[in-house]
Amino acid sequence: MSNTGPSGTRIAPSILSADFARLGEEVRNVVAAGADWIHFDVMDNHYVPNLTIGPLVCEAIRPHVQVPIDVHLMVEPVDALVPMFAKAGANVITFHPEASRHVDRTLALIRDHGCRAGLVFNPATPLDWMEHVMDKLDVVLLMSVNPGFGGQSFLPSALAKLRSARARIDAWQAAGGQPILLEVDGGVKIDNIGEIRAAGADTFVAGSAIFGQPDYAAVIRQMRERIAAAEAIRV
Ligand code: DX5
Ligand code: ZN
Repeated sequence: MSNTGPSGTRIAPSILSADFARLGEEVRNVVAAGADWIHFDVMDNHYVPNLTIGPLVCEAIRPHVQVPIDVHLMVEPVDALVPMFAKAGANVITFHPEASRHVDRTLALIRDHGCRAGLVFNPATPLDWMEHVMDKLDVVLLMSVNPGFGGQSFLPSALAKLRSARARIDAWQAAGGQPILLEVDGGVKIDNIGEIRAAGADTFVAGSAIFGQPDYAAVIRQMRERIAAAEAIRV
């Protein structure tokens, strides 16, 4: 179903930077170019100062691709949208813990609706939010920009935070815990994806780096090459 890259890494193009007037064609093209997931940014002009797309658009693109749709909820409150996105064909649903009154309950709600569940950490949000809900996490998503807009620059502070999240997840899994993906979102480019991989990320969101270029396949191929090179150095 999905063509994961080196060591089971995933590239998840963010459709925030796609041509919204041709969204079906855009998601088909980016999957044909090698995308593993489609990253779907939901903004509500309340939790973040921007407004994007909702469950109707998720439902509209669902028949166009077979890969998982990764819904990143930048909304407050969260819970009412979970069943709507599950029904619209989402496979992964992540949310910001500050935006939910009951984080544990929201994670359970997402899983109860058959989706993989995850928490999203803004640059200033401490990783401690994950501590008591490790057993309910399928994904940890670290923001390497402040959420709300595509095309921002990668914040270098995300690298140390990735290493810290990687250590927590590795310790959890070594103790018999379930697998948890470590995803990064914001400012990911061909030129920095290697060091982001080396810091521990396994799932890479990239919006403007992919949709801003004419040849999506060339960008994704170069990203995979940089990931593989970073892994070769680590061994
Ligand atoms: C930002 C979004 C990102 C964004 C990434 O709030 O969550 O997914 O689309 O865009 P780039 O890759 O351009 O930074
Ligand atoms: Zn996102």
